[in-house]
Amino acid sequence: MTLTLDEVTKLYPGRKTPAVRSFTSELTAGVYGLLGPNGAGKSTLMKMMTDQLKPSAGAVRYEGRPIASLGKSYRHVLGYMPQQQGMYADFTGRRFLWYMAALKGLDRKTTAARTEEWLQRVNLEQDADRKLGDYSGGMKQRLLLAQSLLNDPKVLILDEPTAGVDPKERIRIRNMIATLAGDKIVLLATHVVEDIEAIAKEIILIRGGEKIAQAPPQAVLAMAEGRVREYRIREEELQAFQEAHRVSQIKRDSGGIWVRVVQDEPLSGLPMREAAPSLEDVYLHLFQDAT
Ligand SMILES: Nc1ncnc2c1ncn2[C@@H]1O[C@H](COP(=O)(O)OP(=O)(O)OP(=O)(O)O)[C@@H](O)[C@H]1O
Ligand SMILES: [Mg+2]
Repeated sequence: MTLTLDEVTKLYPGRKTPAVRSFTSELTAGVYGLLGPNGAGKSTLMKMMTDQLKPSAGAVRYEGRPIASLGKSYRHVLGYMPQQQGMYADFTGRRFLWYMAALKGLDRKTTAARTEEWLQRVNLEQDADRKLGDYSGGMKQRLLLAQSLLNDPKVLILDEPTAGVDPKERIRIRNMIATLAGDKIVLLATHVVEDIEAIAKEIILIRGGEKIAQAPPQAVLAMAEGRVREYRIREEELQAFQEAHRVSQIKRDSGGIWVRVVQDEPLSGLPMREAAPSLEDVYLHLFQDAT
């Protein structure tokens, strides 16, 4: 099972620079985290991978065949959770899933079974008969995730699935995605770096529409190795320090403040300790100047 991106480019009409530029990648079963700042091109890339948007150049292939030529048969193996989606406020959660299942061409028996299964797995069975207009943001996200899984997809594209979801549900969703991933290609765009760090087989970093790395989490963490340090400073120095340096974390203890800085060279004149990079540190290191 492979999904390949071959020099995929998207230039939106009226724009001078492409939103996605010569993007090449190969995905096999497992979870891939797509990480990049706002406007990096994540959603655009995902729309091309789900055949919602035609690339200006290049191709997306599933099992070696361009998805544009696969049509319905690609849709049958695809699950997609968009970043934004209109949902009819008058629908109940259960009705919404039935409606989505119909759009996916599932028969009644399969729909009935899968709808109940997913309502339960995303923890919405109690709220299944409430109207979507009364759902919280986190409930809507969980319902959209359930919708993407109704057809038991082989390729699952999730555009910020845990946006607005509380930590308890986020962890539940994260674990669910990790469990599902055994026999699926899962691509997950998120800004919640701990989610990716915990479950991704590989992390794909995107900036300004270009892929800047694709590697296992450990290798991505190594990109900031030797650049992360914590310094002891006094409370009254904090503001000026933050204006002068890229601070990724501020920790207070009985002895004062530790500020964490990602920077090539160490600062002199302050008590210092080396720290192991986190994905957040790498993010800051790579995307500090990105818009
Ligand atoms: N329909 C569109 N028409 C023109 N430009 C667009 C369109 N959609 C997105 N863009 C532009 O393409 C670039 C990439 O946007 P995209 O939504 O793919 O980024 P993203 O990485 O998903 O960002 P976010 O983290 O905010 O969701 C941005 O510069 C954006 O303004
Ligand atoms: Mg987006």
